[in-house]
Amino acid sequence: MFTVKIAKIIRHSKNIATICFDREIPSYPGQFVMFNLFGYEEIPLSLSSPNSVTVKAVGETTEAIVGAEFDKVGIRGAFGKPFTPSNNSLIIAGGIGVAPLKYLYDFLKTRGYDVDVIYGAKNFEELIWVEEFKNAVFATEDGSFGSKGTVLNLLKDLRVEKFDKIYCCGKEEMIKEVYKLLKAKNCLIKAEFSLERYMRCGIGVCGSCVLKNGLRVCRDGPVFKGAELEDLF
Ligand SMILES: Cc1cc2nc3c(=O)[nH]c(=O)nc-3n(C[C@H](O)[C@H](O)[C@H](O)COP(=O)(O)OP(=O)(O)OC[C@H]3O[C@@H](n4cnc5c(N)ncnc54)[C@H](O)[C@@H]3O)c2cc1C
Ligand code: FES
Repeated sequence: MFTVKIAKIIRHSKNIATICFDREIPSYPGQFVMFNLFGYEEIPLSLSSPNSVTVKAVGETTEAIVGAEFDKVGIRGAFGKPFTPSNNSLIIAGGIGVAPLKYLYDFLKTRGYDVDVIYGAKNFEELIWVEEFKNAVFATEDGSFGSKGTVLNLLKDLRVEKFDKIYCCGKEEMIKEVYKLLKAKNCLIKAEFSLERYMRCGIGVCGSCVLKNGLRVCRDGPVFKGAELEDLF
């Protein structure tokens, strides 16, 4: 573990914040770090840029990260398999699943690649970086911004066949539905999904993040190709 200083904390809403480090972590989009706010449990967080993580408060540790002021944290990583960059791609983001996809989006755009974005959240407050995503369509469950509903409503009407790569991250229920839809449209071969599981070691040793098909989210993922998830959904 090494210690990094906090350069700034951006509060997007009452329960979402981006923690910016004073230096970059060598990494690729889709990789995660084991993040230790001293005095709390160490937790996995995707990098939302080479020098930041973006966190939603859901329990004790994430509430402390989003709510507290602190000037340094412990980091292990970056770990895990990243996304495969491609031109002419589609990003599908649900809720805080947008974090690793923002890193990917910036990575692809700085290389001049075309990227479309479908991004949904519970409400407008939980949609972040709205201004920064171009070629983007949005959905909120309460209809406070964009289409009323979920990313699935937007995805159903889209000709996904035209994209060379499709990236997805969000809640497991959403990933499952996107997976089924892409399978029905014969597009799974181009798809990559970022999954979450409870993690302890982050490096493939302890077994706490093993999927029912035997793959470890920390080591074999968190980004998986569509075909690797065949037995899971
Ligand atoms: C590879 C990876 C990348 C992640 N990236 C991010 C990120 O970029 N931003 C972010 O905000 N969160 C991310 N998470 C989820 C984050 O690690 C959990 O929200 C966090 O560990 C919860 O800790 P807690 O003490 O706040 O909540 P807890 O008290 O541990 O849990 C609160 C609630 O959240 C549920 N929960 C806990 N961990 C997870 C999990 N891994 N997946 C789904 N539900 C969970 C619990 O079942 C419980 O209902 C990621 C998880 C993984 C595995
Ligand atoms: S977290 Fe220990 S094996 Fe994945």
